[in-house]
Amino acid sequence: MDFVLVPSNEFLQACSMLTFLWKFTVFYFFYISCFLAYCVMLEDDPNIPAIAKYFNTKGRYEEVNPYLREDILAVNRSILQPPSEECQQIHLTAIIRHGTRYPTTKNIKEMQQLYNIILHNASGEQSWLRELQTQWTMWYTEDMDGRLVQKGVNELKHLAVRLSKLFPSLISEEKLRGGFIKFITSSKHRCVNSTLSFKAGLTEHWNIKDMEFDHAVNDALMRFFDTCTRFVEEVDNNPSAVTEVDTFKQGPEMRRVQQKIADHLNIPYSLITYDMAEAAFYLCAYEFAIKSVKSPWCQLFDEDDAKVIEFASDLREFWKRGYGHDINSRASCILFHDVFNRLDKVAAQNMSGQQVAEAVTVQIGHADTLLPLLTLLGFFKDSEPLTSTNFATQAHRSFRTSHMMPYAANLILVLYDCGGGDLRLQPLLNEKPVTFPGLTDRASMPLYRDVLEHYKDLLQGCNFETEPELTNSSLNR
Ligand SMILES: *[C@@H]1O[C@H](CO)[C@@H](O)[C@H](O)[C@H]1NC(C)=O
Ligand SMILES: *[C@@H]1O[C@H](CO)[C@@H](O)[C@H](O)[C@H]1NC(C)=O
Ligand SMILES: *[C@@H]1O[C@H](CO)[C@@H](O)[C@H](O)[C@H]1NC(C)=O
Ligand SMILES: *[C@@H]1O[C@H](CO)[C@@H](O)[C@H](O)[C@H]1NC(C)=O
Ligand SMILES: *[C@@H]1O[C@H](CO)[C@@H](O)[C@H](O)[C@H]1NC(C)=O
Repeated sequence: MDFVLVPSNEFLQACSMLTFLWKFTVFYFFYISCFLAYCVMLEDDPNIPAIAKYFNTKGRYEEVNPYLREDILAVNRSILQPPSEECQQIHLTAIIRHGTRYPTTKNIKEMQQLYNIILHNASGEQSWLRELQTQWTMWYTEDMDGRLVQKGVNELKHLAVRLSKLFPSLISEEKLRGGFIKFITSSKHRCVNSTLSFKAGLTEHWNIKDMEFDHAVNDALMRFFDTCTRFVEEVDNNPSAVTEVDTFKQGPEMRRVQQKIADHLNIPYSLITYDMAEAAFYLCAYEFAIKSVKSPWCQLFDEDDAKVIEFASDLREFWKRGYGHDINSRASCILFHDVFNRLDKVAAQNMSGQQVAEAVTVQIGHADTLLPLLTLLGFFKDSEPLTSTNFATQAHRSFRTSHMMPYAANLILVLYDCGGGDLRLQPLLNEKPVTFPGLTDRASMPLYRDVLEHYKDLLQGCNFETEPELTNSSLNR
């Protein structure tokens, strides 16, 4: 019986061999999974905060078009896909948001307030908190007040060069020298400087030193949100226009985000208001947009928190610039008519065999310029409005400023002559072809007359003569 209980030498050897194999296998698998994790990590660029895709209007253009991270001048002309070889570009209007800017004075004050809380009230052993307390310095000063930063200068220069590569027959040296390219800008310094940067992008690209090119400042077109009386009175200066936003800011989702931040910092919940949470989020966003660094501020948020703050901000844009109130988009009628009047003029010139006088129009404004216009045209409309109670069900909403409206966001309309009076209009958003909502035939390049038919009501109405309340100007005040 004994030999049954005492394992033989062979058995022991086999066991140790198996144990070794098992350990080896475990080790090996561990190794492989580490290697795979490392590969995944490399794909997710470690210098990009995980929450960077939720930065709303403070996001980088590269997050919307990631291929630009490899090559900032990359273009792919085959995306345009005109229906026939015959199609020639005859006009392009680009409506562009200014590039990356410093925070506004109001934001900077809030950042300073949050930084004081970090310095004087927060405690903990986390390395990122130590870094904030001992190494990070509050380098934002109030005089920066929303000015264009160097990154923003580069963005507009690069955009200009990419557009000249994408539309070489229109954005060409010859057309620029010949005065066929017009520039219109909002009077705001960041827009004027964005316009100068766009022009510098072209002149440096073509090495033009013997000529300078004008631009016109036109706030009636590019800052209609200041001059449209009804919008100013009913929405901009009217707190009850944004009650959904205030309700959400005081709601359970947002409160949880604020509490998590306070817990990270080991401070009373009362110290982290909505404004403080937003300031921390902005600090992560600005450090990334301006300096391309993943700052320790980003550690205060996980992706779930970021989605809540992103929604709060989208909610605000929805009620102040988007579908929330009709007047938000109708305030942009003046810009809408300006664009279509120009297209009509170009179409008429082309049809009557004249040279098109204005081959390219570059108009530089704000997120507040573009969002109402996109809304008027019907882009990014969800079936349900965004409200304080539908954060969860709106997770897949199309009205998402992080995707629509990064710095240097742009709407481009290209008019083609495809022979035989066949004019077509192609819209591109952030350099990608899109379709006019509701116009499905020949999706990305519909007939111009079909576009006119589609927007007939706006073309006939949406008018300062028939809707005088749209007009009045605060410019004179
Ligand atoms: C360019 O765009 C075309 C059409 O969308 C696509 O098939 C092609 O893969 C793109 N090329 C590159 C290099 O991205
Ligand atoms: C935060 O720190 C400041 C400055 O030390 C102090 O006056 C204030 O009472 C602190 N607040 C809380 C809630 O601890
Ligand atoms: C605009 O650019 C000019 C130089 O091109 C610079 O001197 C000026 O400070 C800039 N203004 C703003 C508001 O960024
Ligand atoms: C319209 O413009 C295109 C491109 O420049 C040109 O080829 C065509 O002849 C013009 N059409 C007419 C009717 O002049
Ligand atoms: C528009 O402005 C003019 C003077 O600039 C004023 O007389 C008129 O009453 C204003 N209309 C509205 C609707 O505010």
